[in-house]
Amino acid sequence: MQKLLIFDTTLRDGEQAPGAALTSRQKLEVALQLQNLGVDIIEAGFPIASRGDFKAVENVARTIKKCTICGLARSLKKDIETAHAALKKAKKERIHIFLATSEIHLKYKFKKAREEILRIAKEAVRRGRKLCPDIEFSPEDASRTKKDFLFKVIEEVIKEGARTVNIPDTVGFSYPGEYGQLIKDIFNNVPNIDKAVISCHCHDDLGLATANSLAAVLSGARQVHCTINGIGERAGNAALEEIVMAVKTRRDVFKNLSVGVNTKEITRSSRLVSALTGFAVAPNKAIVGRNAFRHESGIHQDAILKKRSTYEIMNPHTIGLKGTAIVLGKHSGRHALAAALEKLGFKLKKEELDNAFKKFKDLADKKKEIFDDDLLAIMAEGTKQQRRSFNLKEVKVITGTNIKPVASVSIKYRGKVYASQASGDGPIDSCYRAIDKISKIKTKLLQYKLDALTSGKDAQGKVKVELKAKGKIVSGFSSSTDIIEASVKAYLDALNKIS
Ligand code: KIV
Ligand code: ZN
Repeated sequence: MQKLLIFDTTLRDGEQAPGAALTSRQKLEVALQLQNLGVDIIEAGFPIASRGDFKAVENVARTIKKCTICGLARSLKKDIETAHAALKKAKKERIHIFLATSEIHLKYKFKKAREEILRIAKEAVRRGRKLCPDIEFSPEDASRTKKDFLFKVIEEVIKEGARTVNIPDTVGFSYPGEYGQLIKDIFNNVPNIDKAVISCHCHDDLGLATANSLAAVLSGARQVHCTINGIGERAGNAALEEIVMAVKTRRDVFKNLSVGVNTKEITRSSRLVSALTGFAVAPNKAIVGRNAFRHESGIHQDAILKKRSTYEIMNPHTIGLKGTAIVLGKHSGRHALAAALEKLGFKLKKEELDNAFKKFKDLADKKKEIFDDDLLAIMAEGTKQQRRSFNLKEVKVITGTNIKPVASVSIKYRGKVYASQASGDGPIDSCYRAIDKISKIKTKLLQYKLDALTSGKDAQGKVKVELKAKGKIVSGFSSSTDIIEASVKAYLDALNKIS
């Protein structure tokens, strides 16, 4: 049996998805859950990218002990040294160095010849190896790189000590037959290939990320880059849950491969990432979508009752799906809350539990039954508190069918309370105009989305907004039993990511 390594890049490529930014604390929560899930490697971020990213990688490296912690670096001295510094406290450290090798990148991005690129790649890996024994190298845009050059780069970086060579389909251009063949060609043409693990990294621009990754695995790749719920740059990356469940379900195809992931943690991981990033999972998403194990047609239901495997290829219990349990109500105490949150992957310090408990009690006063999704929403709110600079004090709206709505909003900003009034197209537009008068930030609302978090008339409304301001696209989200309050808080959440 050979092991297929699961390299999770939710916190790096996943977080690169426009609007998915996570705070350092949220990244740690995801990393703790990835550890429970049993991934082999966690790519925790790109330490040179920002002070925040550096701190987040440092935090994850200090806390997570069971997985290898990886930091991304361009083939530059300062990137490699910064990644190494951020990983100093890691029990198992890996630096992931990348450099584009395709003609199009050489010509337009770097304006450099192949010889120069080869020299830079070798030097970067050599430098990395002096700091860290575990170096992974990615020839970016490998699937569009001239094969002979790609083989040469791979051979040389392995000579310099790269232990893993990752083959990115950076723009999601490849298709399974072609990408699988590329991996085979690498095995057949790189003389020292047995000295490194070959890894795949597929993007989903054509909806082929999972298929391409599995084709690579069948051709001998023994590491897969993937993200929870498939989030990532543009259309996203290969989804971890799809890769893992394909390998586990099709034992006839992947017979000699084992995966270390505890699949019972898949649902929890998916919900946590969705709650913290605000990226809803499509109902028809494979494995983790709300409808993935629901059967609507009468013929299917009848057959399922006779024999589940007629229409179900996986048992929902294997991915930790137990149905939405009612976990708590207004009489539940702190212990029950702490235990329920721990089950969802949150281990809280006393002060954090106090904060969550207060929010839980406020919610329980408005809502009879508190579901897992409600708790995830509380946690998404609670953890954002630390870096929030605009805080809602109060919102009042007068609206109706025959009057122009007027919103009065007061906001606490750096210890002072500011109030404003405005009138707009509807109650929410009025609130947003009032907030803009206070923040003085020029924004463009790109998206506004309202969903019910759970079922029932008292369900919380979950609002997601996407804003463009100061050249950045950010998203904010919030939930409340009052949709105006949720809308205002979501807008402030987005503003807090800009300012
Ligand atoms: O898609 C890509 O090429 C990447 C590299 C940094 C590995 O994410
Ligand atoms: Zn990528």
